[in-house]
Amino acid sequence: MYLLRNPSPIQRPTQSQCRAVACSCTARQPASMAAVQNRTESGSTVISTAPAESSGVAVTISTRKKPARALTSRAKKRSTIRLRMAAMTGELEIEVVEKIVKMCPGVEMVRFACSGTEATMHAIRVARAYTGRDLLLKFEGNYHGFHDHTLWSTYAPVEAYGNRRSPIAVPASSGIPKTMREFIITLPFNDFDGFERVMRSYGEQIAAVITEPCQGNCAAINPQDGFLELIRRKTEEYGCVFILDEVKTGFRIANGGAQEYYRIKPDLATYAKALGNGIPVGAMLTTDRIASAFQPGSHAATFGGNPLAMAAGIAVFETILGEGILANCRRVGSHLIARLFRLQGSHDCIREVRGRGLMIGVELTGDAAEVVRHCMARGLLIITSGSGNVLRFVPPLIITEADADHAVTILDEVLTQS
Ligand SMILES: Cc1ncc(COP(=O)(O)O)c(C=O)c1O
Repeated sequence: MYLLRNPSPIQRPTQSQCRAVACSCTARQPASMAAVQNRTESGSTVISTAPAESSGVAVTISTRKKPARALTSRAKKRSTIRLRMAAMTGELEIEVVEKIVKMCPGVEMVRFACSGTEATMHAIRVARAYTGRDLLLKFEGNYHGFHDHTLWSTYAPVEAYGNRRSPIAVPASSGIPKTMREFIITLPFNDFDGFERVMRSYGEQIAAVITEPCQGNCAAINPQDGFLELIRRKTEEYGCVFILDEVKTGFRIANGGAQEYYRIKPDLATYAKALGNGIPVGAMLTTDRIASAFQPGSHAATFGGNPLAMAAGIAVFETILGEGILANCRRVGSHLIARLFRLQGSHDCIREVRGRGLMIGVELTGDAAEVVRHCMARGLLIITSGSGNVLRFVPPLIITEADADHAVTILDEVLTQS
């Protein structure tokens, strides 16, 4: 669901106070890079391979400042970054990290990337580095980005996944090497017995269990009570890394993400989407212990933590914390879900309404594409998900109850005429 309304504009960030987090950020940098940064901060002249104002290695092709200034006009005023190299921490990154740490207590290390795909890919690699194991367990229907490691059993109809006791991992794209199947175990989401059985058999070979807290790709299938807790317990028991993919839920369900809402503490969490409010960004949050599995040089991203994305991140946190946006999300989300339940009462074609906050799915008995088209023609932009029979509502968190009512009225009209 899309509403043509602008969330708060990027604001100029405030002065950063804390240096402690900066230390945690730089702790894994190659010593040489930290040294270069220190010299820069102390005012010495440094001859740089990456010109000032650039956002990464080999990025800037001209030292004329105008284009960079236009792009980062707000970020630059705050930034003390004089030279940025791969994985070098800038002051805006520090400020975002401070805010993340406030929102998600227990986080000791943050690494920035440019998308959710990148964040989950790095998360899986660090989990493998940390455990020395290769196997990854993911759940059917979950989506973790377009990379070969997890693009399995994501979009196919449930029948394609075979028997629940021995599920078939189905590649969700052409071009994935068949040998990647050796590294993946897939299981139905919310299958308590199946999960315990697989952990008993393979737990000691599994590097990580990755899951969305509630399944966004399938339009808001919630975890059953105790399922995330079971994953937490079993991953601890078998020494696997628990990766919670909060790319969709992050800062959309509670201030601290779904992990706060469900009171679950993963070893590693990934964020993107809302963190940049439209500006590409990704982040991987973990503990020092796990992050230390990455040696200097193990992780870098040219644009990871770039000033524009970081300025957007700061504005996002200030908006979330300062404008009561999540309270609005909870209130309007409950209202919208209640309205959709009522709509279900008058339309047999609605099989299920589900969701939390403003991540809502309406499962139809038939194909949803035509419904989406008609809604669009009336000014309501929604998309399908799952295997094509689910309407997905993931609007900005600033929508009002009146907006939600308007959306339901349009949907009602469309379903009545279908
Ligand atoms: C849960 C989840 N993980 C990862 C991704 C991939 O993020 P991106 O599209 O930023 O690469 C998505 C995108 O929809 C997602 O919903």
